[in-house]
This record gives sequence, C-alpha cells and structure tokens, in this order.
Amino acid sequence: MQMPSLLDAKKRTKDKVKTINYDIDDKYKNLGKNKTYFIKTYGCQMNEHDTENIKAILEQMSFKETDIMENADLILLNTCAIRENAHNKVFGMIGRIKHLKASKPNIITGMCGCMVQEESVANEIKDKYKWLDIVFGTHNISNLPKVLSKSLKNQKQELEVYSIEGDIIENMPAKRDSKYKAWVNIMYGCDKFCTYCIVPYTRGKQRSRTKENIIKEIKELIADGYMEVTLLGQNVNAYGKDLDANYDMSDLLKEAALTGIPRLRFITSHPWDFTDKMIDVIAKYPNIMPYIHLPLQSGSNKILKLMGRRYTKETYIELFNKIKEKIPNCAVTTDIIVGFPGETEEDFNDTLDVVNTCKYDSAFTFIFSPREGTPASKMKDEISLEEKEQRLYKLNDLINKYAKEANDKYLNKVVPVLIEGESEKDKNLLMGYTDTMKLVNVKAPKDKIGQIINVKINSVKTWSMDGVEDKS
Ligand code: SAH
Ligand code: SF4
Ligand code: F3S
Repeated sequence: MQMPSLLDAKKRTKDKVKTINYDIDDKYKNLGKNKTYFIKTYGCQMNEHDTENIKAILEQMSFKETDIMENADLILLNTCAIRENAHNKVFGMIGRIKHLKASKPNIITGMCGCMVQEESVANEIKDKYKWLDIVFGTHNISNLPKVLSKSLKNQKQELEVYSIEGDIIENMPAKRDSKYKAWVNIMYGCDKFCTYCIVPYTRGKQRSRTKENIIKEIKELIADGYMEVTLLGQNVNAYGKDLDANYDMSDLLKEAALTGIPRLRFITSHPWDFTDKMIDVIAKYPNIMPYIHLPLQSGSNKILKLMGRRYTKETYIELFNKIKEKIPNCAVTTDIIVGFPGETEEDFNDTLDVVNTCKYDSAFTFIFSPREGTPASKMKDEISLEEKEQRLYKLNDLINKYAKEANDKYLNKVVPVLIEGESEKDKNLLMGYTDTMKLVNVKAPKDKIGQIINVKINSVKTWSMDGVEDKS
C-alpha cells in the first residue's frame, strides 16, 4: 500500500525528471481474458487522455470494452478533484457500484485519477470503501497491470498512490476516442499554484516532454490519418521552462505546425506566460487554429492577486487586444470563477467589465469551491451561496449574449469544418467544428466524415450552428 500525502504533494524537488519507456510484462497479458471493462471519466482533457491510455493498457491485458456498466467484469472511475460537485458525482456513482458488487462479488472495482491523489479521499477509501479492489493515482497509470494482478492474487484492496511525481513515461499505448482528432500531452503537472487550485497537488511538478518525442508522436498520428492534434498541458505556455533547452512554446508550435498536421490546437494557455513570439507564430501558420482559451478567472486586480494569477485586468486586456489584432478571426474563450473569498460587488463588476470588453466566444463559469490543502480554502469567505449564485446567473446571461453575438457573425458565411461523425441531434446530419471551435451540424454526405469541408452556415444558435456543404 502507498498512501498520498498533502505535504509531499506540495513539495517541488530539483530532481531531474527521467524519461522511461513503457512496457508490459508478458505475464499480465492474459489477466483480462474473456473479461470486459467499463470506465467512466470525470474532469478535463488530461483525464480523458489518461483514460485513452488506461483503455489501451487494459486491452493489452486482453480485457474488452463495454459501455454497459452492469455487464462489466471490471469497473473503473477516473476521477476529478477540481470542485466539490465533481467529488459528489463520483461518490454517488460509487454507491451504485457498491450495489452491483454486492450482487456480483467477482467483479473488479477501482478508482483512479485526481481525487484519489487527495490524502483525505485516499484515507476515506482505505477506511470506508474497503471493497474497492484497485486504487491508483495519476503518477502510476503505467503500473496498472501490476496493481491489478496484485489485487487479484491477494484478494484484497490494492491502493497505490504516489504524491511525488515520478518519471515521464513514453510509449504508453492509447485507444483514442476519435480517428480524426488526437490529444498529445506536451507536459505534465503544474507549478503555478493558483491559490484556489488543487491541480498542482494532484498532478505534481511541471515536467515537459522532449520536443523529439512530441514531434515523433504527431508524425505518427499524421501517418495514421489524423487531421487534428491538440497539444495538452495545464499551462502549455510554460512548456520547456523545466528543460533548460532554450526551446519554448513558440518554438514547439512552429515545429508542430511544420509537420503538416491539417489542424493544430493547444490547451490551456495561462495569460502569464503568453509571449508575443507565440502570438506571431499562431498568426503565421495557417494550420494553427485561430482559437485561444485564455482563462481570466476574475477581472478584479484585488482578487487576481489573492488568486496568485500574476496578471492584472489591464495586462490581460492588453494581451487580449494584441491577440485579436494579430490573429484575424481568432475566437477567444475563457474560464471565470465567481464568489472567490473577499469578492465584493465591485470586484464582481470588474469581471463583468472585462467580459463586456472582450465579448468572449464562450466561457466556462464556476462558483468558487474550497479545496482542502489550498491557500484559498483558508481565506475568509463571507459571501452567501445565494449571492454567489446570483452572480453566476448574471455572468452567464452576459456570456450567453456575447456567445450568440459571436455566432451571429457566421450567418451566411462559408467556413471550413472538420467533419467528425453523425450529429447527435439528428442522425441524418453530420457534425464537426470550425477552425474557431464552433460546433456545426452539417448537411453533407456521410463519406465526408474525416474531411475538412466548406460549409455554408444557414442558422445560428447560442451554442451551435447549422449549415450545408458548400461545393462552389
Ligand atoms: N490549467 C488551467 C485550469 C484548469 S482547471 C488554467 O490555468 O487555466 C479549469 C478551471 O476550473 C479553471 O480555469 C478555473 O476556472 C476552475 N477552477 C479551478 N479550481 C477551482 C475551484 N477551486 N473552484 C472553482 N473553480 C475552479
Ligand atoms: Fe490550476 Fe493555476 Fe495550474 Fe491552471 S495554472 S492548473 S488554475 S494552478
Ligand atoms: Fe480535474 Fe485533475 Fe483535470 S482535478 S480538471 S481531472 S487535472
């Protein structure tokens, strides 16, 4: 057993990060023979991509995927710790799994991801959820075969969660969700320690992959027919700062664009490390998509300081304007937290003010959720939940208004769309995204799936648009 510790998770060592190649021992390859697995993922793209790795590892062990939880021999929850409601959802699901396990004691149950990296959650699992068979963290996904085999052999809970991040594991297999779009990790962890955020504790210190390994992965994806790659990291703009290679995010973006991948995206950009050089590279290469997610969090300088974000309302707007000036048609989206401890009506109005200035294409908005172990969880919070909810509604109304306005500009325009598959709302339509990340339901023949086609937009809503293939 290996329990996580909050104290260790806070530490940042100077130890050099090693790169290790993943390999699976032959002795694990039949563990899942004639068995199925079901995995449910909570959280961000990082977790989604981890799930793609976990699925491929399970399939190396001969497990087959099922999307019906009740039929599965192995049930795994890949969890997120970012806000309290993510926790509640997972514990709700655990209740259902407990029921299943009571009627089918032979099923294997497990939990992984960011929540189990939390010391208090790991303790709770150890004491109250002894029936969960396997528990492993974000740093040891590659050990899954070993953890599972130990639990099966000893017929007891195998809990293995490390707080100190380990090495970078290369060559992990991935069973990707899409045949056209792929996520490529460029870095792991985060060293920003925004005062509200749990991620630096659940994901460890910033570790960048080498450019050689990243570019190699992109080239392999191109060879496999992928049309779009999204470079992934909690704070991609800080890429390379831990490598002393004199090679930064702008260099990586350029080299990745030169691979010829039709569409290149990246997420998430912290405004703090966004350089002019990066903006120039995005502007120069047509296959770097004109879409930037630029989390604001708050428009109040007082709150930004308390959050440890290291920019001001003014420098944020300056950066925003520079992006809009140099990258024509660039869509910008954001994340905003309301009800941070100490946020007054005036502070909140500053946030609304930035929204009115930037007129975002869309935004994710959240009520502040105190996370155990973070500095903000100890800050005095005197705002009532009702007040926070009122602020959220008001903010969302404004965000929706600008989202619709941004979409209105597409009416009757012809735009390139990467067609991904059938539309969820109507099986006779296809769906895809514009270069600016707008969801479009498209009337076009099915053989266009996997291609970038021109689409004439004939109707727009707040969160999606409709269009027909334009052959002219
Ligand atoms: N690395 C990204 C953010 C990842 S978390 C970045 O720095 O932009 C995604 C979003 O969740 C954050 O941008 C923030 O708006 C929100 N978030 C994070 N911690 C939160 C908390 N404790 N309460 C409410 N929202 C939070
Ligand atoms: Fe969290 Fe800040 Fe790191 Fe983003 S940059 S993951 S908000 S600590
Ligand atoms: Fe959640 Fe972990 Fe991502 S906390 S948002 S799954 S990095």
